[in-house]
Amino acid sequence: MRLGYNVHRWTIIWTSAFCIVGCGTETPEWCAEEVHVTYAEFGETFLRQHCNGCHGSEADNRHGAPVVVSFDSIEDVWVWKDAILRVTTSENPSMPPAWELDVGDTELLQVWLECGSELADQKSLRKFDP
Ligand code: HEC
Repeated sequence: MRLGYNVHRWTIIWTSAFCIVGCGTETPEWCAEEVHVTYAEFGETFLRQHCNGCHGSEADNRHGAPVVVSFDSIEDVWVWKDAILRVTTSENPSMPPAWELDVGDTELLQVWLECGSELADQKSLRKFDP
């Protein structure tokens, strides 16, 4: 978990080199060593703090965020997973538009979306339900 951001990126590139044939949607190999991150423990709060001010369907002012790009639920997140990773973890992240994410948050986001699953997220929420 405490890998530097660059190490992390190289691991991903290295791992994908073996994935040219037939890796499909399998969990990346580096995930085995990562702490598991879920919606209940991280994602929900992260999205509320950094994204849903514009992307929540209840947002007062979406600042132009498309109505379809909403992150209200676990299901929404998994529909938008690839797009979320693209706009937050690329060389020049475009989201959130007005501030930068901590490297730690970006790493957790990446671990959550690349190593987690919709099912794990649903279970994590059930655990937190009284
Ligand atoms: C200040 C408002 C605001 C915040 C906060 C915000 N967004 Fe956006 N988002 C927008 C706007 C406006 C667009 C449409 C224009 C664009 O694509 O740049 C957009 C578009 C998107 C898209 C679709 C773009 C594409 O290329 O597919 C995704 C995915 C996205 N945002 C993810 C996020 C994530 C993840 C966060 C939190 C880390 C976030 N946004 C935070 C305003 C915001």
